[in-house]
Amino acid sequence: MQQQGGLEISTGDSVDPTLVPQRTLYSGAVMPAIGLGTFGSDHVSAAEVAEVVKGAAAAGYRHFDCASVYSNEAEIGTAFEEILRGGIRREDLWITSKLWNDKHRDDDVIASCRQSLSDLRLDYLDLYLVHWPFPNFHPPGCDVDSRSPGAKPYIHANYMKTWRKMEELVDMGLVRHIGTSNMTIPKLKLVLRDARIKPAVNEMELHPHFQQPKLFKFVVENGMKPVGYCPIGSPGRPERDRTPEDTAPTEDPVIVRIAESHGIHPAVVCIKWAVQRGQTPIPFSAHHYRANLEGIVGDSLTDEEMRSITALDRNCRLIKGQVFLWKEGQTWEDLWDLNGEITPP
Ligand SMILES: NC(=O)c1ccc[n+]([C@@H]2O[C@H](COP(=O)([O-])OP(=O)(O)OC[C@H]3O[C@@H](n4cnc5c(N)ncnc54)[C@H](OP(=O)(O)O)[C@@H]3O)[C@@H](O)[C@H]2O)c1
Repeated sequence: MQQQGGLEISTGDSVDPTLVPQRTLYSGAVMPAIGLGTFGSDHVSAAEVAEVVKGAAAAGYRHFDCASVYSNEAEIGTAFEEILRGGIRREDLWITSKLWNDKHRDDDVIASCRQSLSDLRLDYLDLYLVHWPFPNFHPPGCDVDSRSPGAKPYIHANYMKTWRKMEELVDMGLVRHIGTSNMTIPKLKLVLRDARIKPAVNEMELHPHFQQPKLFKFVVENGMKPVGYCPIGSPGRPERDRTPEDTAPTEDPVIVRIAESHGIHPAVVCIKWAVQRGQTPIPFSAHHYRANLEGIVGDSLTDEEMRSITALDRNCRLIKGQVFLWKEGQTWEDLWDLNGEITPP
């Protein structure tokens, strides 16, 4: 292991990728059950994230969760080029990207995907997600109180126009699978009813303090795979994205106790729990990605430990999405259809 500019750079002794659990999608394709998140937010530059991607591939990661809005796909693309030149085969990588919210118009979808492909230096993506179901622009890094003047609610007919273009991307061979992100059960029910090509994955916030058991079950029962973001509770997120009610799973005494008994960091307990529960966590890490990967090929949490973590759910959503609210007087809960129906426009 080398340290370079404070980053963890792997130099060999990787985890054998064939030991990493895999998820089989409804298409029969297999996706590694852990991916590296690539959102460096305010504190890890695009160039640093690209270095981390290279180090993570050397450590044994084969799954990378990218997005155009992370503003680092061009840098990550040079990392992918190097990784592929180094002998890892494209078919052994799983690469996801996402359509940003200001690109939902049907004439923007294909162009936006092509831009991600060109930035990432790829011929195809394994998975392309609609990042949020709300077609509203807000600049990266804006405050949670900021509102887009033309903000719109979820309108199913409009979402399906976007989805038709997502389906076209599959027909064109630019994308192997398409999926959703930040959805709710009532929204997904409509998409499943109307889609020609069904979502293969729903990416959603999932960690021990926010387990979303109903949505998790719905996703699984409908043949999709749950991919879990902020699996550690996003301890590095900026101050502007925090509220006083937020809790930190890595500080939970139960998680801390389990971590001590296994001799690992509480973050690794969160990752082990996620993989054993059946979701695919996509932790970001500039400094601990090796430990997270080793954690899921090491010893397992016991049934009792798994049960004690299940009991920790606090329904504590960290990524509330306030910037997507479209009307005065709303609260972030309105984005998440809490009473089982899509919040009316
Ligand atoms: N679809 C969506 O709308 C959506 C929304 C949010 C995020 N995401 C995706 O999910 C990914 C993960 O989310 P996130 O980055 O917000 O949260 P996260 O993965 O829960 O947390 C990342 C933080 O945890 C720390 N960490 C990771 N492993 C650790 C370990 N073993 N020990 C100690 N600290 C550790 C990292 O620190 P170091 O860097 O110092 O290691 C980093 O600060 C993103 O990068 C992005 O790809 C998607």
